[in-house]
Amino acid sequence: MAIIVCSDHTKAWTRPFDQKKTTDIDAAILTDHMMMEAAELGLGSVWICYFKPDVIRQEFQLPDTLEPVNILAIGYADGSPADPKRHATQRIPLDELVYYENL
Ligand SMILES: Cc1cc2nc3c(=O)[nH]c(=O)nc-3n(C[C@H](O)[C@H](O)[C@H](O)COP(=O)(O)O)c2cc1C
Repeated sequence: MAIIVCSDHTKAWTRPFDQKKTTDIDAAILTDHMMMEAAELGLGSVWICYFKPDVIRQEFQLPDTLEPVNILAIGYADGSPADPKRHATQRIPLDELVYYENL
């Protein structure tokens, strides 16, 4: 199954100071929650941003106000999950990403 997560630009909250719309943030939050629910149900999922928005728009006849932000593919995972400890060696170390300051 693939869920196309769209944001609705006519309904998005807009920050009054600079007119920033939180569409991407909102779409990311709900996609993340769907990923967690999928995991809870024993399913695997992949977050996909590598798609052509114009093709998705045309194929699914999305109105102009809807923007496809990402696609969440959900299914039965083939194989076992990758070791979560890989993040310590294959990603930027946490102490380079997070800055703490004592106030
Ligand atoms: C914003 C975003 C976009 C992504 N787009 C794709 C994608 O288009 N195709 C894909 O195979 N995986 C995509 N992924 C999944 C990543 O490749 C990766 O599998 C996932 O983030 C897990 O990362 P980890 O190995 O650091 O846990 C995307 C992930 C994020 C956060």
